[in-house]
Amino acid sequence: MVLDKISSEQAINLEDKYGAHNYHPLPVVLNRGEGVYVWDVDGKQYYDFLSAYSAVNQGHCHPRIIKALQDQASTLTLTSRAFYNDVLGKYEEYVTKYFGFDKVLPMNTGAEAVETAIKLCRKYAYEKKGIAENKAEIIVCENNFHGRTTTIISFSNDEDARKNFGPFTAGFIKIEYNNLETLEKALKSSNSIAGFLVEPIQGEAGVYVPSEGYLAKAKALCEKYDILFIADEVQTGVARTGQLLAVDHENVKPDILILGKALSGGVYPVSAVFANDDIMNVIKPGQHGSTFGGNPLACAVAIAALEVVKDENLAENSEKLGNLFRSELQKFIDTNDLIKLVRGKGLLNAIVINDTEDSSTAWDICLKLRDNGLLAKPTHGNIIRFAPPLVMNEEQLLDCISIIKKTITEF
Ligand SMILES: Cc1ncc(COP(=O)(O)O)c(C=O)c1O
Repeated sequence: MVLDKISSEQAINLEDKYGAHNYHPLPVVLNRGEGVYVWDVDGKQYYDFLSAYSAVNQGHCHPRIIKALQDQASTLTLTSRAFYNDVLGKYEEYVTKYFGFDKVLPMNTGAEAVETAIKLCRKYAYEKKGIAENKAEIIVCENNFHGRTTTIISFSNDEDARKNFGPFTAGFIKIEYNNLETLEKALKSSNSIAGFLVEPIQGEAGVYVPSEGYLAKAKALCEKYDILFIADEVQTGVARTGQLLAVDHENVKPDILILGKALSGGVYPVSAVFANDDIMNVIKPGQHGSTFGGNPLACAVAIAALEVVKDENLAENSEKLGNLFRSELQKFIDTNDLIKLVRGKGLLNAIVINDTEDSSTAWDICLKLRDNGLLAKPTHGNIIRFAPPLVMNEEQLLDCISIIKKTITEF
């Protein structure tokens, strides 16, 4: 049988032989997850300290989300948007009230939602602001990560992500992250600027948290120059950083909000773009879409996933445990030379290893963490991201902190 039990070695060999080599996974083969834990094919238990890049905020296989999935899966899964279905509208009402926008445009993956936001921003610029056709420009930040499509990598500065994938899409101006002067300079530089696309914390780049006030001041500058502030909260959204959205830390309301990942608790690909009517209404039938976007299964799963976030106070838990995590690790770092610093917000954190960018120290530490029962992965250079499911309790977090300390001390 195709799905008979296989060993770790067999699973890794199969992926190596039959799958494209577009990832470099840590060598561990998982076959079960529950809450904050995952198990490998030999039954060894681990704390998941990545949460599928912050998609599994609600914990693995949350029973309420799985029940919603099963119930809807046995009723109706996909109609396409050629017809109405009886779940999409209910989801749209629920999710727009939840995040405080007039309208939502449902998609599937994060990258698709970013593409959607870019199209929406450009169309609004041409039709509502009178920017000359094909001249609209969007300001983006250096070291951004917004996904993998051709347009999105056009404004990446990660050479691995770009090399030999050109020609690229024009219309983006790149500025330094966390620098309001360069933002204002860019806003002034042309009258064809349509929007500013920003991650409230740069997750993939290594959990770079901007200075306090940066987001609020950036939003104020966007208002001053009448351009759209677009927040990519695919990684930071849905309670990850200790508030429902990371922009909530500075009371910023984006003109366009992009969500993905934890919108479904990692159970199913669900992403979304939010905006108010004056912006969203520029999109008319036939101008944008997706066969799977807004399907009944996705909608039922996302409603359950968002109910869990509220009912289980995941934002509050993330805030509280995040503070504990950073203060405990800081005390440890003060006595240890291998780690330079810990940074983050809520339960989106990273440690920076005291070694050259091209050394394998972060990777080697992750292998030892795995051996000690905790799964994490390096991001760029020598940085390890720590992002456990938000359903973790204090006792479990303290256990994880002692695994991390022990591993680094022994290293
Ligand atoms: C901020 C941000 N935007 C977009 C994406 C792309 O999401 P997806 O991998 O679902 O396309 C990611 C993925 O890590 C992300 O972190």
